[in-house]
Amino acid sequence: MRRLILLSILICFHCILKKCLCSSEQDKVLSITAMTQEQVNLLQNISSHNETSLWQPASPSHITSNTPVHLYVQSSSVTRVTELLNTHGLSFSVLLENTQELIQEQTRNSTTDPKSGGTTYERYQSLEDIYYLINKTNQEHPDMTKLILIGSSFEKNPLYLLKLSGRRGPVDKAMWMDCGIHAREWISPAFCIWFIKYALTFYKENPDITTLLDKMDIYILPVMNPDGYKYTWTTNRMWRKNRSVMEGSSCVGVDLNRNFDANWCTTGASSSPCSDIYCGRYPESEPEVQAVTKFLRAHKASIKLFFSMHSYSQMLLFPYSYTHEQIPNHSELFELVQEAAIKIRRHYKNNYRYGSGAKTIYLAPGGSDDWAYDQGILYSFTFELQDRGRYGFLLPPNLITVACNEALAAVKTIAIRVLEKL
Ligand code: ARG
Ligand code: ZN
Repeated sequence: MRRLILLSILICFHCILKKCLCSSEQDKVLSITAMTQEQVNLLQNISSHNETSLWQPASPSHITSNTPVHLYVQSSSVTRVTELLNTHGLSFSVLLENTQELIQEQTRNSTTDPKSGGTTYERYQSLEDIYYLINKTNQEHPDMTKLILIGSSFEKNPLYLLKLSGRRGPVDKAMWMDCGIHAREWISPAFCIWFIKYALTFYKENPDITTLLDKMDIYILPVMNPDGYKYTWTTNRMWRKNRSVMEGSSCVGVDLNRNFDANWCTTGASSSPCSDIYCGRYPESEPEVQAVTKFLRAHKASIKLFFSMHSYSQMLLFPYSYTHEQIPNHSELFELVQEAAIKIRRHYKNNYRYGSGAKTIYLAPGGSDDWAYDQGILYSFTFELQDRGRYGFLLPPNLITVACNEALAAVKTIAIRVLEKL
């Protein structure tokens, strides 16, 4: 017994040294399942408060019975929240005990901390480092890349696209891929960076990437929401929206994936500035969305394929998300994502769900994929990368490689098939 007490004192002391708190005082992520409507209401109430951050679903209004809810709870509220859950008979389990440690592990930097293992691509990169990396890539591959400034964010961070092309003359087809529209989904920018590295390394080595680069230009936006991304590194790891400041509200930020002009701000979005799925004052009110739509409108004759990368939950989605109605080429896109999911299962033994957004997750209007589709980009996809909730947004760096490789397999599979159809 005395040994046990001594051990726990030591662990706490060890934690203090590492600038974290003892286990009981840490932020936690809970998985909670409501069974009755009364419990759903309580859960909606708890997850609307500031000291919690809802991981899954995206908004309290999407909470239903019998579906696990993932909730990040700040250390100071853990006791209060778990007591509330217990008195109302809600069953829950602890998904993550040690969020601070996980966050520390993800923000380690190779130059300042020798403990951060792995290469550049096996670590999460700060906004500055991503800018540095795409600039360097552009300088090292002047024959295959072009850096294009498409606009700037609310806080005036630049929005850089990297255009990838094979060593050949001009072509009339192109593909779009954006990452990091939601700030806390760190695996997403990591994937865009991974994809760029892969394409430039394996051009003329891997037949699929060679075909893609020889037949299409690929436009990549590694961080669509730079202000939000930066904020998750400096201030709040769980931030989702951009950082635009609204007159008349003390709440900050618009959900950029609710701000596109696609059945804007109907069921599945919120008109309250304090909500995580706030749609903004009007469609395309946000500079990040304006920059993307302006570029896509100007290039829509050539852009045939559209990918938007998110996390987490492992899903391959296509339009619509703003209505339960089916798109005209539903079965065609269904077959594409099905083939991609089968490939991931075969090579990586991992399961991805697939289908239209509204049917597979929830109604969510104002999204980029739906908007792109309605602009005539008929092969439009949203991917939700790893994982399924074990770590959620805090996917450890040692899982970047598998997460990116399987997503890469899905992108290549779909893009190759689409090229055959065009
Ligand atoms: N989790 C994503 C979101 O809430 C799903 C995006 C699916 N597409 C869409 N247009 N909502 O934004
Ligand atoms: Zn997202």
